[in-house]
Amino acid sequence: MGQAFETVAWTDRGTVRLIDQTRLPAEESYVECRDFAAVYHAIRSMQVRGAPAIGVAAAMGMALGALAIRAEEFPVFFEELERLAREMITARPTAVNLAWAVRRILRTAQKLRDLPLVAVRDGLVREACLMKAEDVAANRAMGRHGQALLPDGARVLTHCNAGALATAGYGTALGVIRAAVEAGKRITVWVDETRPFLQGARLTAWELHRDGIPVTLITDNMAGHFMQRGQVDAVVVGADRIAANGDTANKIGTYALAVLARAHGIPFYVATPLSTVDLEMPDGSGIPIEERAPEEVTHLAGRPLAPAGVGAANPAFDVTPAAYITAIATEQGIARAPYAESLRALAATAVAG
Ligand code: MRU
Repeated sequence: MGQAFETVAWTDRGTVRLIDQTRLPAEESYVECRDFAAVYHAIRSMQVRGAPAIGVAAAMGMALGALAIRAEEFPVFFEELERLAREMITARPTAVNLAWAVRRILRTAQKLRDLPLVAVRDGLVREACLMKAEDVAANRAMGRHGQALLPDGARVLTHCNAGALATAGYGTALGVIRAAVEAGKRITVWVDETRPFLQGARLTAWELHRDGIPVTLITDNMAGHFMQRGQVDAVVVGADRIAANGDTANKIGTYALAVLARAHGIPFYVATPLSTVDLEMPDGSGIPIEERAPEEVTHLAGRPLAPAGVGAANPAFDVTPAAYITAIATEQGIARAPYAESLRALAATAVAG
């Protein structure tokens, strides 16, 4: 199943190239980031979005930052790299992949500290590129495990975009769907438009349509109606951060879908790389929820929907309690309740492997 675009790439010009997700689907265009600040801006403005894609972009942004640090000695270099790390993790707070990727770049620098600085800088570029390759491999492995959860003929509902655009390639929730299709299953997809940023309507519909996977777009408030009529067989979503007990932060509206799925006896699956699992966060109550600009709610494509002066709330994520989650597909296999044990065990196999 071909994906003819690259979400995030390190170019041979020493720049970071991102498909501009704020312009899709009207325009397939790319932004070329030449420095740390440009990558930071791309993450913050959601030109690149989706937890794993943010992680890889942040690692490449750190590498760009490292190339520009003027220092002769490692301690001075590392102090500046840590300052960039502190700045980078403020770009978006909920997806743990951002902090995970930045910490990995810092650890890599420490491992290379005895080499000449030119080799440390090269090593950070290589590490960022390795993280990209690992993410694609993780998504393919997750797809192989996760597709077994979907029967032939399944009508799957997904929310937001957890596809190739949200990762370094292939996707998490859409990776599971792609793998099921590649296994010969006839899968059809309901996609929520995903107010207010419309990742479902703009991005998931674009990706699936390109791949020839049958997709039907619905507004977010239609999901219950189709579940009640027996027209949804499974829900599959991605994740921005999963706490040690399985509580899962994902795009706003995910929690409501999980409650609806439970009310209708429909399995609710999460697909995620282990880089999204935050074992240091005991449960979902501590996950920071990003609050975005009210204009995303009051306006559509720059045009006002609401009377001027009316305030709007805009939490970008919500937390689905683990009790609503039927299973979590990862690159190391399927986790089931109790998640406090199964997630830790899968993470340990990943480290051992
Ligand atoms: O605000 P976004 O578009 O970055 O939010 C993305 C999501 O909520 C995705 O579902 C999640 O990052 C998983 S992507 C594989």
